[in-house]
Amino acid sequence: MKKIAVVTTGGDAPGMNAAIRGVVRIASSKKFRVLGFRRGWEGLITNSFTPLTPRSVGGILQLGGTLLHTSRCPEFEKKEGIRKVTETLASNQIDGLVVIGGNGSLQGALELSRSTDVQIVGIPASIDNDVFGTDETIGFDTAVNTAVAEIDKIRDTAVSHERVFMIEVMGRERGFLALEIGLTVGAEIILLPEVSYRKENLFGIVRENRAKGKKSGLIVAAEGIGDTRVLAGQIQRNTQTEVRLSIIGYAQRGGNPTARSRLLASLFANRAVEQLLGEEGNSVVGLQDGKITCVELQKSCKTEKVLDPTLLRLAKLLAT
Ligand code: F6P
Repeated sequence: MKKIAVVTTGGDAPGMNAAIRGVVRIASSKKFRVLGFRRGWEGLITNSFTPLTPRSVGGILQLGGTLLHTSRCPEFEKKEGIRKVTETLASNQIDGLVVIGGNGSLQGALELSRSTDVQIVGIPASIDNDVFGTDETIGFDTAVNTAVAEIDKIRDTAVSHERVFMIEVMGRERGFLALEIGLTVGAEIILLPEVSYRKENLFGIVRENRAKGKKSGLIVAAEGIGDTRVLAGQIQRNTQTEVRLSIIGYAQRGGNPTARSRLLASLFANRAVEQLLGEEGNSVVGLQDGKITCVELQKSCKTEKVLDPTLLRLAKLLAT
């Protein structure tokens, strides 16, 4: 193997830069040349790249976002898009491709793997933490910490005004972010797309909390549960409690990666290059029970990662 390509695709995640740096520096130490393709799959379709060297990735370890930029690329979902990518890989004599991204990016990598012999390795990077084959994705820890810092501030005003706050956090259709954020801010209620709830029960919990002296409260809701504006209004009307809604939004995707996100990015990058060196492509690196591991790309894409129900039970116990 002589030349590898690296690309960041889909929603950005803090720590993507640390992963690019890791891939470039480790690959360079093994005498690979590295090309960084710009704006995700789009750069592989339009043949837009920049050569990356250990020096050109200096000073990015601590930065959020991605030096290579990223995009959602509908063209890549069509046959023609995949064909153009395989052409770009062939014309640049690429032997291995590192895809840094989340669930959707890895699905794209799987599609591509069906049309090329280039070895592909996925590095899971997404604030959603919804990739099977890893306990944690790059950027998840940073996003949790960003949201927790915000909600700690919201708690101050909730307490002063004796209000209940519903805070909507990201996560697409999954509740990994909401669950960990909810538990660590001490939310009285955590609403996840994976767990159905009855509105009457919700109203009951809010009323009971008031009755037992909890004058303020926090409800952490995953964006995937539906319209939080409507739900916040319903809780207010049915509990005679002042309820405010706060949507944290895209701030969760930005900011300097935490030490943990940087560490994970560096470990994943190292393993990804090792996989390519051993010609063991079509795999996704991950962290499982404290160890750096790998699963087949196909398995990662076709298996749904399961939420830990014990965390939700613990959060409920702690919120009494
Ligand atoms: O996948 C990461 C994520 O931030 C999700 O949590 C969110 O639902 C989505 O991306 C937003 O996507 P976009 O950047 O296309 O608006």
